[in-house]
Amino acid sequence: MDSEIIIPQGFPFAGNKLEEIISPDSVQKRVAEIASEISVMYQGKVPIIIGVLNGAFLFMADLVRHLDIQFEVDFLKIDSYGDGTKSTGTVRLLKDISADITGRHVVVVEDIVDTGLSLKFLKHRMEEASPKSLRFATFLYKPDVASKDISIDWAGFNIEDQFVVGYGLDLKQIYRGLPGIYAVKEEDK
Ligand code: IMP
Repeated sequence: MDSEIIIPQGFPFAGNKLEEIISPDSVQKRVAEIASEISVMYQGKVPIIIGVLNGAFLFMADLVRHLDIQFEVDFLKIDSYGDGTKSTGTVRLLKDISADITGRHVVVVEDIVDTGLSLKFLKHRMEEASPKSLRFATFLYKPDVASKDISIDWAGFNIEDQFVVGYGLDLKQIYRGLPGIYAVKEEDK
């Protein structure tokens, strides 16, 4: 995979560049590290791992493949970005979990924490069901943007305040399949 991709005509941001900021190898190495920490944390327990759709589907799939504990999975779907590159400031629940998480150990898996609004929404939603424990793993974290009062248990990489795609993350629903993380760089006009 090239470390720089020119976005072809007909696609969002055509003519601009996608610049690799995290290589596919680094992605996989970091996911394995997080999985081993989670495995240690839940040794002898059966947590419910909840993936936040759509963005977290690749991180979630790779993460659970590396776990050496038993676990259950579930998914929910929220939307805070619409089709744009900035948070709309409101979170909509598009699909809820089906598992009963009361009294269970829960790990919520997110693709990226930007403002932290989605995470706050999810925390509140999960806490209503009184899980035995509740922890959050995110693949990417934007520390300069995130509100200071959120706490994350596992973060794959801290990144600058820039819009990124790949490894599950999209721009207008595409680029999710790129195996690394790419920043959208607008060319000087
Ligand atoms: P937050 O609620 O502002 O923390 O935003 C979280 C959600 O916004 C993520 O789950 C993504 O769906 C989306 N998002 C935030 N930053 C990016 C980005 O750089 N690329 C793609 N999606 C993003």
